[in-house]
Amino acid sequence: MCNLSQSTAKLKPTDSANRWHRQESWRALEELQRAGKIRTIGVSNYLVRHLEEMKEYATIPPAINQCEFHPLLFNKGLLGYCNKNGILLEAYSSLGEGHLVNGDEDLPELDEISHRHQIPPVQILLKWALQHGVAVIPKASSAEHLLENFEATRFELSPEEMAKLDSISERKQKRFCWDSSKII
Ligand SMILES: NC(=O)c1ccc[n+]([C@@H]2O[C@H](COP(=O)([O-])OP(=O)(O)OC[C@H]3O[C@@H](n4cnc5c(N)ncnc54)[C@H](OP(=O)(O)O)[C@@H]3O)[C@@H](O)[C@H]2O)c1
Repeated sequence: MCNLSQSTAKLKPTDSANRWHRQESWRALEELQRAGKIRTIGVSNYLVRHLEEMKEYATIPPAINQCEFHPLLFNKGLLGYCNKNGILLEAYSSLGEGHLVNGDEDLPELDEISHRHQIPPVQILLKWALQHGVAVIPKASSAEHLLENFEATRFELSPEEMAKLDSISERKQKRFCWDSSKII
């Protein structure tokens, strides 16, 4: 017998109770939305199969799916699925927790575009996601970083530049946070 008081985070990825926890958590969120206590409900780290599974139990579809998304983890399939199903994809770790902008990764495509526009790589990364219709939530601890990140809305990347950034994940993939693909 499943028990939601058992922390979902403590379940093994292969534990069959994961599905039940997702379902019951969603039902609780739906109740809160119906009661007017929260306006919008969504999920995080859901792959296409987790979103498809929701069609079996959700009466309110998720408004948003927050996932790791950047040029080293460009999940085109998930983006297409979310767009088709009216779910906003929201990127976390757009800056690879800082590693994509502090020189830790060799990204000549990003450097070249940054140099051409005379715009820092951080803004190119954020604009790449925004031009894909993805929401961004970069974490910044200083006013200087915050202001710099807002500047990402003030220029456009060409289709060729978008394609070049899209292609990075074909030669190099990296995940900076946890991998939900193991969760059954
Ligand atoms: N749903 C989930 O499972 C999940 C998982 C991970 C993260 N998140 C959320 O996603 C959000 C994003 O955070 P994240 O931790 O993934 O990191 P991130 O946004 O990829 O990167 C944050 C790092 O980038 C640096 N940075 C920010 N703006 C910069 C700029 N203009 N120039 C240079 N460096 C800059 C920050 O440094 P400073 O701090 O010095 O500004 C920080 O070290 C957070 O709200 C987090 O809670 C969600």
